[in-house]
Amino acid sequence: MFKNVCCIGAGFVGGPTMAVFADKCPNLNITVVDLNHERINLWNSENLDRLPIFEPGLKDLIKRTRGKNLFFSTEIIEPIKSADMIFISVNTPIKSSGIGAGEASDLRWVESSARTIAKFSQGHTIVIEKSTLPVRTAKVIKEILHSNQNTSENKNKLKSFSILSNPEFLAEGTALDDLENPDRVLIGGEDEESINQLKDLYLNWVPNEKIITSNLWSSELSKLTANAFLAQRISSINSITAVCEATGGDIREVSKAVGLDSRIGNKFLNSGPGFGGSCFKKDILNLVYLCKFFNLPEVANYWDQVVKINKWQKDRIYKKIVEKLFGNLSDKRIAILGFAFKANTNDTRESPAIEISKDLLNEGAKLVFYDPKVSKNQIIKDLSKTIEMITQKNKDEFLFFADNVYDAVKDVDAIVLITEWEEFKNLDWIKISNLMIPPSWVFDTRDVVDPSRISGSSVNLWKLGNADFN
Ligand code: NAD
Ligand code: UGA
Repeated sequence: MFKNVCCIGAGFVGGPTMAVFADKCPNLNITVVDLNHERINLWNSENLDRLPIFEPGLKDLIKRTRGKNLFFSTEIIEPIKSADMIFISVNTPIKSSGIGAGEASDLRWVESSARTIAKFSQGHTIVIEKSTLPVRTAKVIKEILHSNQNTSENKNKLKSFSILSNPEFLAEGTALDDLENPDRVLIGGEDEESINQLKDLYLNWVPNEKIITSNLWSSELSKLTANAFLAQRISSINSITAVCEATGGDIREVSKAVGLDSRIGNKFLNSGPGFGGSCFKKDILNLVYLCKFFNLPEVANYWDQVVKINKWQKDRIYKKIVEKLFGNLSDKRIAILGFAFKANTNDTRESPAIEISKDLLNEGAKLVFYDPKVSKNQIIKDLSKTIEMITQKNKDEFLFFADNVYDAVKDVDAIVLITEWEEFKNLDWIKISNLMIPPSWVFDTRDVVDPSRISGSSVNLWKLGNADFN
C-alpha cells in the first residue's frame, strides 16, 4: 500500500483537490509543491483568511488537514523522490507566440514537471495528469520519463513509471462539493494495476459506480469535450438573449421552458455576460487547434463559433451601455459591481468584467469597482495594459475602488452588474437611486435585480434578454 503523494502545482485545482484527498484518506502523506513562493507562503499562512484562493469551506478543510497529512512546500525534489504517486496539476494556458499561438496549449510547465519527475523520482512512480491537456500529451510525458531512464545519471537506478489521465471536473465556487460528491471520476490509462491503485484512493469516498475508466486518449478528450459542451450551452442561451430583446421574449421564461425538457435539463442555462474563467475558452481553442491539426476544419469552425458568440455577447453589452448613456461616456462615472468571473470565487481570469471595463474605459468612462472578494491590486493588474494604452495618465483619474455597494454607486451615472454575488440580490434600490446622478441606469447582466424592488425608484433598468427592460 503506497503512502506518499506529491502534487505539482498549488493552484485552484492542486490546493483544493489535495486537501480533499488528505481529508478522505488519512493514511496518505501529501505534499503540494509549487515554484511560486508567495503562493506557498499563503497556503501556509497562520491566518486562514490569507489562503491564496477563496472557496467556500476551504478554510475549515485546510484547518483539519494542513500539518497533519497535507503539506505545502517550495521544496520540490524530496517530495518527488519519496512519492509513490505524483499528480501534475500545473497551468496549461494558450500559447502566446510561435506555432499554434492563440489556440494550442503552452505545455512548458507540464514538460518541466515531467523532466523534474524523470530526474528525481525513485522506484516505481504513478504519474497522473490532473491538468487539462491536449489529446496525446500522455505520450509526450511518457517519452520524457522513459528517455531519462537511460541517462548516465539514471542508468543504474531502478525507475519505472506508469502514466494515468485523471482530469478534474470541479468548478470554482463549488469546488469542495464537486470534489466530495463528483458526478463521475474518470481514470484513463493502460496499466490496470495503476488504475486500480488510483481507484482505491477515490473509493474512500466515491461510490464504485461513479468511477469510470477508459483509455488515455478518451480520458484526455473527454475533459476537453465536457468543457466545450458546457461552454456551448452558455453561448447557446446567450445567443437567444438578443433574440428575446428583439422579439419581446424574456430569457428567464425561455430558459425555464427549455430546461424542463428532461432531455435538455435545467442546469447551465443561465444567460449572462459571457463565460469567463481560465478554462472554457482555452479548452475550446485547444479543441479547435486539434481539429485543424487533424484536418477537420468543419469541426474546428463549429466549436470556434462558441468562443465567437461569447465575445459578441460582451461586446453587445458594452455597446448597449454606450447607447443608453447617449453615446457618450467621457467623464461619466460607472460602477462595476462584481469583478470575479462568477460568484463565490476570487478568480478573475477571463472575467467578462475585464473586457467590458476595458471597452468602457476606452470610451472615456471613469469606473468605480466593488467586488466582495477581488482585491484592488488584482483589478489594476487585470486592466493595466489598457490603462497604459488609453490614458498614459495616472490610473487614479480613471479607476476608483469602494468597500461596499453603497459607496461604489455614489455619484455614478450607471451601474453594471457583472457578477451574481448573493449580496447584489437584496440591494436597497431606493437608497441607491438617491445616490446616483439622474438619469441613471442599471445594467443587469446576471438577472440579479428584481424589477419590483427597483420600480419605485427613479433608476432606469436594462435587463439582459428581457424585452420589457430594454
Ligand atoms: P493555477 O495557475 O491556479 O495553478 C497552477 C500552479 O502550478 C501555479 O501556482 C504554478 O506556479 C505551478 N507550477 C507551474 N509549473 C510548475 C512546476 N514546474 N513546478 C511546480 N509548480 C509549478 O492553475 P489551476 O487553475 O489550478 O489549473 C491547473 C490545471 O487544471 C489547468 O490545466 C486547468 O486547465 C485545469 N483545471 C482547472 C480548473 C479550475 O477550476 N481552475 C478545473 C479543472 C481543471
Ligand atoms: C468549469 C466547469 O464547470 C468545470 O466542470 C471544469 O472543471 C472547469 O471549468 C475547468 O475545467 O476549469 P468554472 O470555470 O470554474 O468550471 O465555472 P463554471 O461554473 O463552469 O462557470 C464558467 C463560466 O460560465 C462563468 O463565467 C459563469 O458565470 C458562466 N456561466 C455558467 C453562465 O454564464 N451561465 C451558466 O448557466 C453557468
